Amino acid sequence: MEEDVKNIRQSFEEDIKTANDASSLEGLRVKYLGRKGLISELMGRLPSLDKEKRPHVGRELNLLKKHIQGELHEKQQLLSSGREPEEGKIDITMPGILPEEGRLHVITKTLNEINDIFVSLGFQIAEGPEIEKEFYNFEALNIPLEHPSRDAFDTFYIRDDILLRSHTSTVQIRIMEKVKPPIQAIMPGKVYRPDAVDASHSFMFHQVEGLMVDRDIKFSDLKGTLNLFTKRMFGEKTKTRFRPSFFPFTEPSAEVDISCIICKGKGCRVCSHTGWLEILGAGMVNSAVFEAVGYSPRKYTGFAFGMGVERIAMLKYGIDDIRLFFENDIRFLKQF
Ligand code: DAH
Repeated sequence: MEEDVKNIRQSFEEDIKTANDASSLEGLRVKYLGRKGLISELMGRLPSLDKEKRPHVGRELNLLKKHIQGELHEKQQLLSSGREPEEGKIDITMPGILPEEGRLHVITKTLNEINDIFVSLGFQIAEGPEIEKEFYNFEALNIPLEHPSRDAFDTFYIRDDILLRSHTSTVQIRIMEKVKPPIQAIMPGKVYRPDAVDASHSFMFHQVEGLMVDRDIKFSDLKGTLNLFTKRMFGEKTKTRFRPSFFPFTEPSAEVDISCIICKGKGCRVCSHTGWLEILGAGMVNSAVFEAVGYSPRKYTGFAFGMGVERIAMLKYGIDDIRLFFENDIRFLKQF
């Protein structure tokens, strides 16, 4: 009977070589695996074998059955894919395992986009610490202890004179302390505020600060730079408007609006029917700031600006709730 098993295996190996269509494969399945097939027939004869031989032959038969099933399946796949197998029988037509695709967070993407625009204009990128001395967050920026504009900022103290920075303007001071003009830099990073979280507020968000200092830097340089930035960021047709404003570290100061990207300036819900959207603060560096870092205000002038990255991303992509950025909902993040 062991001979029979061997013979069946041999005849199957011959048969399978010439079976080249679905019906001959089915024929082989019936011949070998069918209810009255060769394997079944041998199985039926097992009880007549010597007791000691039975387990061994039974196992051989089972292995042969599995082998035949496997070969028939493989050949059938091959025929239905219409291709030859690769050497070593790796079936290159099998679907691969698709790896999960990762991507950058929409805030990182927006930040990179902002950085790229300014780098293309010759700005360098600089960074400063998030845990900061009071001096850099306030005094050096012309915000003395009793100044009212400190209220909105006075935040998250770690020690008496050390806090989480409330804006990236701190890095302006750190750069100017280190190097002499000319300076042309942007400073991206996280900032912290004592704001209750809602659709437009978060206790942490990102800013990009800008600073350009040299002899003879004018307000028109600031306007030209920011006009170009808003066009690149929001589209060529975007208009920019400078509104007089106040910041202790700039004089004169301005708030900068872009024409509403939703209604193109006609007035809609997003721009509160004004046609304009505020995107950043800017101005000419206050001489008190130059004095704090030991620059001569008679020799140098400069401009500075600061923008919120979340706000820019919300406007650009039409996102109406800042919390979406931080909740880590993959369904939201996957869209960008
Ligand atoms: N630091 C300001 C803020 O956090 C933004 C700002 C306004 C930065 C005017 C500047 C500037 O450099 O010139 O609200």
